[in-house]
Amino acid sequence: METKQLKITKSGLLSASDLKLATSLLQSGELVAFPTETVYGLGADATNTEAIKKIYLAKGRPSDNPLIAHVGSFEQLEEIVETVPAYVKELSHQFSPGPLTYILKHNEVCSNKVTSGLDTIAVRIPSHPVALQLLRACDFPVAAPSANLSGKPSPTSASHVLNDLTERIPLIIDGGPTGVGVESTVIDCIGEKPVVLRHGSVTEEMIAQALKITLNKNKQNEVQSPKSPGLKYKHYAPSIPLLLVKKSPDELKQVILSHRDAGKKVGVLLSDVTANRLKLKSDFDLGTSIEEIAGNLYTALRSFEHTNYDIIIIESFKEEGLGVAVMDRLTRAATEII
Ligand code: TXA
Ligand code: MG
Repeated sequence: METKQLKITKSGLLSASDLKLATSLLQSGELVAFPTETVYGLGADATNTEAIKKIYLAKGRPSDNPLIAHVGSFEQLEEIVETVPAYVKELSHQFSPGPLTYILKHNEVCSNKVTSGLDTIAVRIPSHPVALQLLRACDFPVAAPSANLSGKPSPTSASHVLNDLTERIPLIIDGGPTGVGVESTVIDCIGEKPVVLRHGSVTEEMIAQALKITLNKNKQNEVQSPKSPGLKYKHYAPSIPLLLVKKSPDELKQVILSHRDAGKKVGVLLSDVTANRLKLKSDFDLGTSIEEIAGNLYTALRSFEHTNYDIIIIESFKEEGLGVAVMDRLTRAATEII
């Protein structure tokens, strides 16, 4: 199938006729990739089981890994869940629309292929203007995982989506590079307090502060019995071995040099600060702040696709704020951590 691309207008939104094209494809059970503020999503009508099956097929995604239902408003969220705890309402005032996904008991409005048969559903109101425009023009929730082939880094630009899904889907909406760069924070909202299942740019501290409580850590053994099923799969992995180095800058330099001395073709990923300090060149400029690093991370990992490097060596980052999400993704992507 031919993959058509839509560009946004100068206003940053889709034209009325392009919006109509995208919504009618979704309505007729087809897939549409669209930008969100975190990563690109691969959307389908969440109430249409046949449409949802196409998502799993296009991505090569295991069917026991449930999807996030995207909606355009809090009212639409309430239509697909059983009850909304008071703390979710409170959090939504501060973080929705935005990169926060709530796990709630569902009311069976969405297909059980969205939830993989669980009695809970993940729901998010994204803040990207094009995502909101699209969702508000649909009278159904849109299930959307990240629009990558399963196991590859999430797409943060339309070209990443094209790389993975050309000829597998009919439409991509190109909204330019996404901002945040790592997927949304997922919180389990079934208990008395929320529990963070997947870290993102809405941090545990931000949630605790908003609710004026302390949060319980996710105690689930993620590998044996993951509360968030997707976390048990190998993720975000580039096609070349990735070595994550959790050592001092000087030791990191030694690791890089010794791989080079051994005759290996070594790809290096460093922040500006580390590159300057070690007088080494990064093969992809990750930037300076943790926000820039998160925004560039998946493009950096993908930049080594179809190259002949033997290994990619990446530095580690402080596990605070957004750094927790960055290190979580790197830990999952790494073939080795030293
Ligand atoms: O930023 C994002 O969240 C992006 C954009 C497109 O919105 N979406 C995204 O979707 O990252 P995906 O499918 O790649 O990740 C969804 C995560 C998976 O780890 C999945 O296991 C978890 O949410 N999840 C979905 N439904 C769940 C449920 N009912 N209970 C627990 N975890 C759930
Ligand atoms: Mg994903």
